[in-house]
Amino acid sequence: MTTRNSTQKVALVTGGNKGIGIAIVRGLAQEGFTVLLGARSAAVGRAAADTVDGDVRPVVLDVTDQGEIDAVAAEVATEFGHLDVLVNNAGVNTMTFRPMAELPKPTDETVEDFENVYAVNVFGVVRMITAFLPLLTRADAPRIVNVTSKRGSIGEEGAWVGQPSMVYSSSKTALNAITVHYAREFADTPLKVNGAAPGHVATDFNAFRGTRTPDEGAAVAVRLATLPADGPTGAVFEDDTQLAW
Ligand SMILES: NC(=O)c1ccc[n+]([C@@H]2O[C@H](COP(=O)([O-])OP(=O)(O)OC[C@H]3O[C@@H](n4cnc5c(N)ncnc54)[C@H](OP(=O)(O)O)[C@@H]3O)[C@@H](O)[C@H]2O)c1
Repeated sequence: MTTRNSTQKVALVTGGNKGIGIAIVRGLAQEGFTVLLGARSAAVGRAAADTVDGDVRPVVLDVTDQGEIDAVAAEVATEFGHLDVLVNNAGVNTMTFRPMAELPKPTDETVEDFENVYAVNVFGVVRMITAFLPLLTRADAPRIVNVTSKRGSIGEEGAWVGQPSMVYSSSKTALNAITVHYAREFADTPLKVNGAAPGHVATDFNAFRGTRTPDEGAAVAVRLATLPADGPTGAVFEDDTQLAW
């Protein structure tokens, strides 16, 4: 980051180097945002940012690393003085830590699986929101988008069919609850907090077995990141459809 501009629209996307994350980066850059592309590796982040047209700047960001989170928050404060959009996209599933061929039953999953997945999908989001709230509340129309999954919606008929991981789906159920709690706290302010469920998208996450493209999966997150003042808060959407709990 090199220029200081307090009026520029600024967005930060975690896990922005590939899959749905880089598609969200692309979508927000097209909307005119300066986009901070979070990546765990500086080299990977730089290479990813170079593939996107617009003002896209890589930042080294592991959402389990409080020191890295605080360093990026300090950098954003210095360079921009505010943050308009935070997209908590980074996510892992149990299969990240197991061979894809092993589809674990609940009784196969361990406390260590919970710790690994929740560290990113749940605690990482809380770390990010906590660190960036002071910058978000300085923006005119701040938006937080948490990238969740239909797998987290117990009330959605069929959402758990074929679900391979109790750990992953429950992490997204927790994320949905967190989304609602933050939204309620900030209901009387311009800050909106919503969940974006991308559908089944072909990415590394599922060995490219998804049926949607990353751009199709990213569209709902971009829409929620740019909601007008009378838009919803505390809800989870897949495309234009609000999902049940
Ligand atoms: N694909 C689907 O069908 C689908 C469906 C529903 C929801 N989702 C959700 O969509 C989001 C993106 O998934 P995707 O399909 O695009 O997966 P992906 O291609 O595997 O990308 C995941 C991203 O998260 C990053 N990440 C992992 N651990 C991280 C950490 N500790 N700190 C920061 N970044 C970290 C990865 O970075 P590295 O490259 O360094 O690993 C990568 O950039 C996830 O939240 C996922 O749960 C996906």
